[in-house]
Amino acid sequence: MDFSNSQPLLRVRGLKTQLNSKRGTGLAVKGVSFDLYPGETLGLVGESGSGKSLTCLSLLRLNPKPASSIVGGQVMFESEDLLNLPEAQMRAYRGKKIGMILQDPMRALNPVFTIGNQLFESLRLHRGLQGAELRETATHLLERVQIPNPEQGLSAYPHHFSGGMRQRAVGAIAMSGSPSILIADEPTTALDVTVQAAFLDLLKRIQREEGLSILFVTHDFAVVARMCDRVAVMYAGRIVETAPTAVLFDQPRHPYTESLLKSVPDVDHKDERLYAIPGQPPSVFSEAKGCAFAPRCPYAMARCREEVPPQRTVGPAHTVSCWREEAKHA
Ligand SMILES: Nc1ncnc2c1ncn2[C@@H]1O[C@H](COP(=O)(O)OP(=O)(O)OP(=O)(O)O)[C@@H](O)[C@H]1O
Ligand SMILES: [Mg+2]
Repeated sequence: MDFSNSQPLLRVRGLKTQLNSKRGTGLAVKGVSFDLYPGETLGLVGESGSGKSLTCLSLLRLNPKPASSIVGGQVMFESEDLLNLPEAQMRAYRGKKIGMILQDPMRALNPVFTIGNQLFESLRLHRGLQGAELRETATHLLERVQIPNPEQGLSAYPHHFSGGMRQRAVGAIAMSGSPSILIADEPTTALDVTVQAAFLDLLKRIQREEGLSILFVTHDFAVVARMCDRVAVMYAGRIVETAPTAVLFDQPRHPYTESLLKSVPDVDHKDERLYAIPGQPPSVFSEAKGCAFAPRCPYAMARCREEVPPQRTVGPAHTVSCWREEAKHA
């Protein structure tokens, strides 16, 4: 599907989030820009620590404080810059117009309240529902995420639910404000493969029915292939490549994307050892100049260690930040 002819629903420009620690400060999100179009799923991939979660949290100003602070950029949604809104107005967006499924499943549900209580609270807050209507809507939401006996499900505690059911309950809470955007940060990492597949199918169905846009964070390229229309690849706090999913798999242009794809297990070559990208990503507090991938890059040139490469459009909806691309056009 080509979404690029429509207006983006969310427009993120130059987002910068800084970590504040005893060791000083360092940018963990170094000027991230992307668009999210109506009805699309945009994947956000990259190694652990590249800043995916911090980017997602920053969009709604839910980044951990005082451990981090947003120091620049814009998050444009419905003609508002969410980074500039008074805190009180943010409540109209968080969990309501923009739903979130967070990476940490322990934080998503409160073990001492029933699933019903947690769903009621969210529906009261986001939709102002009460009484019979509240109960009916909550039951309907659990039904939509395929919780068997939804009426009974309301009085269950999280520990009564299996992992897959808990994740679907979290999904129901995330959908309770009828959001137009869902931010899903590794929503299936804790689930076994079958339960994961069922949850992803459910998410896709809800997306189709509601015309939802999804920002989908994952490590897993099988999940990317299944879920995402486009993918943004993040390395050390920057998006280094963005492409339609099929193009990213067939013609990756950034050496980091190439390496990431090489490290995906290949079902046809089971006996081959899994490729691991040599070296380590830089620390957030490192002062190194140039492209952050240069020390691990098989193609690195002198210039790569000096300056951060600009972003270049290399095809429809395909952008890359790499000096090799610039050399081609010099
Ligand atoms: N609460 C926090 N306090 C201090 N540092 C943090 C905190 N949360 C994240 N960081 C740091 O910010 C950087 C980006 O982390 P982030 O969680 O965004 O990575 P990620 O790409 O989501 O990784 P993963 O794939 O492991 O979830 C890392 O260096 C991480 O150590
Ligand atoms: Mg994360």
